[in-house]
Amino acid sequence: MKRFVDLAELDTVAVRDLVTLATRLEQSPRPQALAGKVLGLLFMNPSLRTLASFQAGMSRLGGNSFVITPGAGTWNLETRLGAVMNGDRAEHIREGIPVLASYSDVLGVRAFAEGVNLEDDLNEKVFQQIAQLVDKPLINMESAMNHPCQALADWKTLDELDVPSNGKFVLSWVNHPRALPLAVPAAAMTMAAQRGMEVVVARPEGFEIPAALADKARKLATASGGSFTETTDRAAAMKGAHVLYAKEWGSTRHYGDAKADGELRRQLSDWKVDESWFANARPEARFMHCLPVRRNVVVADSLLDGPRSVVLREAYNRMPAQMAVLHRLLAR
Ligand code: CP
Repeated sequence: MKRFVDLAELDTVAVRDLVTLATRLEQSPRPQALAGKVLGLLFMNPSLRTLASFQAGMSRLGGNSFVITPGAGTWNLETRLGAVMNGDRAEHIREGIPVLASYSDVLGVRAFAEGVNLEDDLNEKVFQQIAQLVDKPLINMESAMNHPCQALADWKTLDELDVPSNGKFVLSWVNHPRALPLAVPAAAMTMAAQRGMEVVVARPEGFEIPAALADKARKLATASGGSFTETTDRAAAMKGAHVLYAKEWGSTRHYGDAKADGELRRQLSDWKVDESWFANARPEARFMHCLPVRRNVVVADSLLDGPRSVVLREAYNRMPAQMAVLHRLLAR
């Protein structure tokens, strides 16, 4: 494996092998496997889980890591090609990225969607610009439309919970004070499709999944014996569900238009998850969310703190999942 930027670049057998390796590293740690190796971590956007789980995982494998957060003790990084750099961005990625890569054996990069132009974000414009400058193994720590580390951890979580590989996986839009990127919903639904699940996306009008992402999920589902559909009927979607994966994202109809997005979501405060959503689900149905989550805006306290919720397990699984990725990229 040369890079880990999209779970869908791996076939299903390779993903299952990574999950098995993650479990093996959990049960039989290899504290010197990556001794002498250095993981560079570039965070263009904030993080709690991704930052901490990569550093902890690299330490547990005997390696070291450094963290760069532009603008916080480090120069602000310019990403625009041809920019006249007379503002607050003192360093361009064209120098900054190769320099960081030269210190690292593997580089992790987080670069969220710009949230202005949907096509640019679907094409992963910023992440691709960075990726082209990296001559080392590369890990996507969340880009505009992908979060493969979260997806791998979620696959492991589903396996541990004995959720059938052909079970029903409902990805539901949930409300939030402002538009958030599509990276996690895209990664979650394609992961579930690749796992062979019956994937149903429930979302209000105006929050449709972009065609390119829906096509990708549909193709993965077809190859794995699953399915992919979208609906505005939340109750129908939840019928017989094994999993409800809740996620906030911005209006795709009004992408980059905060005012129109805000007007649309103002009428949608009932898209807040509580136990009533599970009325038609399977009795053992689980609640998933990648975190961070806004309590009592996105999900009720009682559900988040109750037995259906597996959010802490998902977050924990980030560490062994990423240890498996690092091991596969770096260990001899
Ligand atoms: N789920 C996730 O990626 O969390 P952070 O944004 O805190 O890293």
